[in-house]
Amino acid sequence: QLCCLLGFSLNYYLTLLHLFICSTWEEAVDYCRNKNYDLIRISSEMEQNTIATLVNTTNSSSVWLRLRQSRIFGFWFWIDETPLSYQNWTSGFPPQISSSHHCAVISKDNNFLWTSVSCLEKHPFICRSPLITN
Ligand SMILES: *[C@@H]1O[C@H](CO)[C@@H](O)[C@H](O)[C@H]1NC(C)=O
Ligand SMILES: *[C@@H]1O[C@H](CO)[C@@H](O)[C@H](O)[C@H]1NC(C)=O
Ligand SMILES: *[C@@H]1O[C@H](CO)[C@@H](O)[C@H](O)[C@H]1NC(C)=O
Repeated sequence: QLCCLLGFSLNYYLTLLHLFICSTWEEAVDYCRNKNYDLIRISSEMEQNTIATLVNTTNSSSVWLRLRQSRIFGFWFWIDETPLSYQNWTSGFPPQISSSHHCAVISKDNNFLWTSVSCLEKHPFICRSPLITN
């Protein structure tokens, strides 16, 4: 598992800060916020393909998304409260409510689809510049 700072990358519509530090989901959210960045969100098939290509160039099998499950109600939500309209889950639909605290990764082992894992697992993450909006 690669866990190191890889630096900045510019893309035709995303400005990304790649941070391959293995962290829990909450540590990743806090790290990005402290830099005035945001943990990545995917809101279209184009972004899905861009992020999949990016993750594919790393040795990391799973990278955090800014997505977590309500522990009480089981629904999934982007923590900035943008609507969860675009989704691309491994199972084809949002995973059912789990007994533990679950968050989502984009998973190379699952063909770059979204997969539910414990928020306490440690995975690398990517912070996205807020300067460019969707
Ligand atoms: C879902 O993700 C896969 C893998 O990145 C991608 O090839 C496919 O186009 C996506 N599907 C949709 C409907 O966005
Ligand atoms: C991932 O990398 C492999 C090997 O370079 C390539 O064949 C494949 O098309 C890539 N997939 C994506 C989604 O970029
Ligand atoms: C990925 O792993 C391979 C084999 O361990 C290594 O040769 C390569 O340098 C690694 N890539 C990165 C970006 O660290």
